[in-house]
Amino acid sequence: MKTVKLHDKEFTLLLESAAIDKSIATLAHHITDDLKGTAPLFISVLSGSFMFTSDLLKNVNIPDAEVAFIKIGSYSGTTSTGYVRELVGLDQDITGRCVVIVEDMIDTGRSMEYLINMLKAKGAARVVIATMFYKPKALQVEIPIDYYAMVLENDFVVGRGLDYDGLGRLLPDVYVLKN
Ligand code: IMP
Ligand code: MG
Repeated sequence: MKTVKLHDKEFTLLLESAAIDKSIATLAHHITDDLKGTAPLFISVLSGSFMFTSDLLKNVNIPDAEVAFIKIGSYSGTTSTGYVRELVGLDQDITGRCVVIVEDMIDTGRSMEYLINMLKAKGAARVVIATMFYKPKALQVEIPIDYYAMVLENDFVVGRGLDYDGLGRLLPDVYVLKN
């Protein structure tokens, strides 16, 4: 079995890159069909979403779509701290826009709840959610998840932008923490 060691922890292969690519491409086609004509602004949530943003948006075929980046943090080690910090803000007027939050993972949902409120407060006309992974069993707040590529169990994973204290982000496959 394929394993990887990051800092003090061992992880085993959970999802192959090709399977993730396929789910993301399917998702991109749905988003294209649904959001054509809305001139959407995709807002990529750094750092974790950098790879998903690229993989998704290469396959979204909407000529008047735009992309912007923000940076927030809530994780420390392998657990969510429960509170969200904004590290790099949005430098763009989103009044009246259809914005699509592009996230790597919805875990407790706290970061997403924070982002939805923040973007609505800044005047977005519509806030749509697109996440690569979603852990339904970890969700602690009610949020409308419009689009997700894959559902995961409530386990800590790395790869595809997701890290364990800075490591593992660049792995194209996804690995799960051994217990
Ligand atoms: P939430 O606020 O608990 O939903 O957590 C959201 C953020 O925590 C995600 O966007 C990820 O960046 C990070 N996160 C959640 N689960 C994992 C995981 O299994 N591995 C690495 N990072 C994670
Ligand atoms: Mg994230």
